[in-house]
Amino acid sequence: MRKVCVITGGGSGIGLATAKILGEKNDVIIVGRTAKKLESALDQLRTLGISAEALECDISDRSAVDHLAAIARSRGTITAVVHAAGMSPHMGDGETIMKVNALGTINVNESFYEVMEEGSCIVDISSMSAYLTPGFILPKRKYKYSRINIEVFMKKMMSRVNLFPQSLRSSVAYGISKHFVIWYAKMDAAKFGQKGIRVISISPGSFETPMGELEKDEVNECLKHSAIKRLGRAEEIADLIAYCTSDKASYLTGTDILCDGGCVASGYNPLKR
Ligand SMILES: NC(=O)c1ccc[n+]([C@@H]2O[C@H](COP(=O)([O-])OP(=O)(O)OC[C@H]3O[C@@H](n4cnc5c(N)ncnc54)[C@H](OP(=O)(O)O)[C@@H]3O)[C@@H](O)[C@H]2O)c1
Repeated sequence: MRKVCVITGGGSGIGLATAKILGEKNDVIIVGRTAKKLESALDQLRTLGISAEALECDISDRSAVDHLAAIARSRGTITAVVHAAGMSPHMGDGETIMKVNALGTINVNESFYEVMEEGSCIVDISSMSAYLTPGFILPKRKYKYSRINIEVFMKKMMSRVNLFPQSLRSSVAYGISKHFVIWYAKMDAAKFGQKGIRVISISPGSFETPMGELEKDEVNECLKHSAIKRLGRAEEIADLIAYCTSDKASYLTGTDILCDGGCVASGYNPLKR
């Protein structure tokens, strides 16, 4: 059987940088919604001699993700899923961001749980926003509905987002959704552990990617406080992701790794700008 790594959001940024590393030893399947973006990423991967395939899929659509997981399984043994697809505040309204980031993570983890085997690993990409979003904004006690009823879960998340003025809703939805990703990955570690699969989340700070470019103002503010006064390069976090998926990290699960150049450690508070 061939070894396959699935990388959502693999058409650009952190996902693509990760595909370039994981592709050295595995076949890679990159996933996104935009055919053109995926084609250009495929060209780059194939130029490097990587065996790569692109599949179009909107991760907020559960049946599409089920289909994706089944195709990936048919290609070989899935050794890792890197779930890097996501949307930032400048990319959509609050509800869309919640659907893609929170619901998308539920969909990816749930669908791939069915097709992954012992020794494999899921890395869900969160964000340092999860650490910077003030606690009073986060509806932590409502996260449990993600396990009970998705519609109720989404309603609870959106009713918190909608307490805020329209102009803040995308940012609030981003912070909540990324905080939820960390919680969800931790919860899933025990469930996946029964099958011998590890689940980790990684929270990037400010990285040089198409998304990082869109969030420039916030990023520049954050850099003033960071221990390392530059943006991270996508390859720098891709190396960390690749390590987490490898056998070298075989005792690592149920935890989040913050990779932010020391921004959160500085005590930076986005509300006090
Ligand atoms: N760059 C940063 O500074 C930073 C900081 C914190 C966290 N992050 C997180 O890191 C992850 C990767 O971001 P990036 O910086 O590499 O940004 P990026 O280059 O914009 O990558 C995001 C990818 O997600 C895909 N995507 C978005 N919505 C999707 C959907 N509904 N279904 C399938 N694919 C979807 C996009 O492709 P399509 O548009 O073609 O679907 C895109 O390729 C994201 O989860 C982001 O929140 C990034």
